[in-house]
Amino acid sequence: MSTSLSSFIATRCTTDDRHPVAFYQLIHSIAQTCRAIAAAVDRSALAGTTGSAGVANVQGEEQKKLDIVTNTLMLEGTANNDVLAAVASEEMARISRTGQARKAGQYLLLFDPLDGSSNVDVNAPVGTIFSILRCADSTYPVSESDFLQPGTAQVCAGYAIYGAATMLVLTLGDGVDGFTLDRDSGEFVLTHPRMTIPASTREFAINTANTRFWEAPVNRYIDECLAGANGPRKQDFNMRWVAAMVADVHRILLRGGVFLYPQDTREASRFGKLRLLYEANPMSFLVEQAGGMSSTGHERVMDIQPHALHQRIAVMLGSRDEVERLTAYHQQAAQPVPDLVNALRHLWTEY
Ligand code: AHG
Ligand code: MN
Ligand code: MN
Repeated sequence: MSTSLSSFIATRCTTDDRHPVAFYQLIHSIAQTCRAIAAAVDRSALAGTTGSAGVANVQGEEQKKLDIVTNTLMLEGTANNDVLAAVASEEMARISRTGQARKAGQYLLLFDPLDGSSNVDVNAPVGTIFSILRCADSTYPVSESDFLQPGTAQVCAGYAIYGAATMLVLTLGDGVDGFTLDRDSGEFVLTHPRMTIPASTREFAINTANTRFWEAPVNRYIDECLAGANGPRKQDFNMRWVAAMVADVHRILLRGGVFLYPQDTREASRFGKLRLLYEANPMSFLVEQAGGMSSTGHERVMDIQPHALHQRIAVMLGSRDEVERLTAYHQQAAQPVPDLVNALRHLWTEY
């Protein structure tokens, strides 16, 4: 017999006393909202909601009409939850307080309502990413600084992917489960229990149009993949890039691979393109829970203490062997070259 998301959540609710009932209702509301977003994406060409809204969001990026529509759906779909204190979104400069009575044991929700939104206009996959944090009891009113918690503090993370099928993939900190939307019944059905990422892979995902802006360790890694069987890796690699992190990470959860959006030299102060709190952290939580690894190249993504709500970060995540290799290349690049050091030491003694 198949397991629906509703019964999965109900079971968790009765067996896991770390969270109140309203916390599980919040997850249910997010799932219902993702179903509404799937319908909005599905109908976008018919409803005239494709294309640009003609405005920019707080990050200076062009907002699509559906970025705004889906942001509103997420706000409205989660507003009435008793334990939700405030929300933050890629599409809102500031946090939004839900107006719920202030009490102990509340939560904060962060989301990217439509990831890869440029894909909508070409009927390619898009998604919704979310992350849930506990709200410190002592803070009133809730402020932006309450959201600045490292990824390790997340109690739940997930995404919905609107592709050939709509799926919801979820972690509560003890594994990853994937549910497929049955459009006939309207239920999400557990189709991918206990998802795990194979440790090794021959598939990488990166936007190679940015090659000239990458740092040396990333260039080294990709050059070696491209050299294939004739290079140091002694095997051929395959490349995929959907331009929606949700879809690239979903593929990695299903068959392994590595996804990179590294820091590059286009804007040195930016430290990457993806946003730490509502893109990198929830995806890192899912990937780690599925046995993979996530790093900036220099440190574990989920260990970073955020300093701003819309902070960006470099991301390298997926199959463990490849992310370990990438971090080793970054460490080696940070070491002084031994020959050069010795030569300088020699010169110094001679002098
Ligand atoms: P968003 O649409 O939420 O701004 O996210 C798009 C992100 C991410 O999902 C994707 O991996 C990346 O941007 C694609 O970047 P390029 O345009 O450089 O390919
Ligand atoms: Mn995004
Ligand atoms: Mn987005």
